[in-house]
Amino acid sequence: MDAERITALSDVPTDSTVCFRVTDDSDETQEAILVRTAPVATDGGDPVSEDGVSCWLNYCQHFTHIKLDKGSGAPMRDGEVVCANHGAYFAADSGRCTFGPCEGAYLTDLEVTVEDGDVYLTDDDYAFVGLGPVETDDCDRASSSNVEF
Ligand code: FES
Repeated sequence: MDAERITALSDVPTDSTVCFRVTDDSDETQEAILVRTAPVATDGGDPVSEDGVSCWLNYCQHFTHIKLDKGSGAPMRDGEVVCANHGAYFAADSGRCTFGPCEGAYLTDLEVTVEDGDVYLTDDDYAFVGLGPVETDDCDRASSSNVEF
């Protein structure tokens, strides 16, 4: 598949994630998230580094029906993505769960490439659909306000 532009690298925050939709080979629409992998050096406010972004399917390895980014960005602590449900931490660069109930598990990665300040989806297995979450997923929306332990 051709590379498809997702967004500008400068629009990916360092303390949260960007959610977007993809389709896979079976035409199923899924959500993925862009995550900054390193602090961005700034020069007058503009990003200097053009790498430092990774991409993962948007679900926790503890309960796979739970989204990391529930539509407004997943929380991040010390450069790791945090699952709001039970506090699992995932390393931004490897996707490995470093702490929590699924410690040692890995998020599913999608290949992205940064060119001229834009982030492109360059994964042969997925096609870009659009920015934002899947609108019709009522199931997980309900669970976002229902923290279980
Ligand atoms: S669902 Fe993510 S830590 Fe439990």
